[in-house]
Amino acid sequence: MIAAAGARLAHMLPPETAHALTIRMLTYGAGVPAHAPQLPVSTRVELPKSGLRLCSPVGLAAGFDKNCEVPEAMAKFGFGFVECGTVTPKPQPGNPRPRLFRLTEDRAVINRMGFNNFGLDYFVRRLANYSHDVPIGANVGANKDSDDRIGDYVTGIEAVAPYANYITINISSPNTPGLRGLQDKASLTELLARCGAADRNALPVFLKVAPDLDADAIADICAVVRGEGAWLSGLIVSNTTLARPPSLRSEEKSEAGGLSGAPLFEPSTEVLRQFARALEGGFDLIGAGGIGSGRDAYAKIRAGASAVQLYSLMVYDGPGIAARVAHELSHCLAEDGFSSIADAVGKDI
Ligand SMILES: Cc1cc2nc3c(=O)[nH]c(=O)nc-3n(C[C@H](O)[C@H](O)[C@H](O)COP(=O)(O)O)c2cc1C
Repeated sequence: MIAAAGARLAHMLPPETAHALTIRMLTYGAGVPAHAPQLPVSTRVELPKSGLRLCSPVGLAAGFDKNCEVPEAMAKFGFGFVECGTVTPKPQPGNPRPRLFRLTEDRAVINRMGFNNFGLDYFVRRLANYSHDVPIGANVGANKDSDDRIGDYVTGIEAVAPYANYITINISSPNTPGLRGLQDKASLTELLARCGAADRNALPVFLKVAPDLDADAIADICAVVRGEGAWLSGLIVSNTTLARPPSLRSEEKSEAGGLSGAPLFEPSTEVLRQFARALEGGFDLIGAGGIGSGRDAYAKIRAGASAVQLYSLMVYDGPGIAARVAHELSHCLAEDGFSSIADAVGKDI
């Protein structure tokens, strides 16, 4: 995924092989620019509740760099923030392969990786060595075989807090059985009480939610977030979806797992808007799901996001997508007479 051409070349390999090779090449610096590209001034933003200051609101979503191996490289491609993980306390292999599928005709991906990762010790060693001024987020999760999943989040938070710029509590992966149950009212209340009491070094913490939530579930989550979760900085909306829109054309559309990329754009933006409406500006929202252009990022911002993240469309367009989206976004702002991101946040709520 060194450039758009690299992305096309990588598509000649099975998806997980291509991904592993990409990470390997990036660790050697192959194709990585010496410096981050110049980004438009109008896309600088400070997230109001967390205080995170970003040179661009376009971040790298979790899942690409699960073990925190290439965050500097991704910063140099022009991402305004980089999220690594999901990391679990103990290393785990994840689900059997194949577990990653390209839906090329749909510009989408299905994955059922199942939190494959090298564990917290490895992750924290890498995180402690990170040396770039682009903020880095650590996305924490629970082991599949854990007896105390909430305890796993507390362990993760306390281990990464000395080194990260923010933390994400991921309770929305569809590939660890039962994990999304932590979004239910009683479980979420307990999770946020215990994580709120964790030693988190006063870092901003975000809760990452699924797009597969009805109005009642969204209302419940917002009630708990406003109550027990009032200490949170905000929400990341959203993770991958279990839904399969009828428009999907690719052969792999029936594979089990979470769908991401272009078909996730509309539903995840709608769920984001509902969270923005319910939370009324009290929390920072980060929009993710199907972003491939500045116009997509702009729509998320108008729906209530102060920043956005992407992963799947980078698989198709290469890492240059980070700077391209930022430049296109600055044009969208200018077209509508906005001089900053903050002016456009929530205009379509
Ligand atoms: C292969 C793959 C692995 C992912 N792994 C994680 C993960 O470990 N933790 C997480 O919070 N999200 C994970 N995600 C979800 C993304 O971070 C993002 O929320 C989602 O894919 C929507 O954005 P996108 O359409 O731009 O990919 C993964 C996504 C993909 C495609």
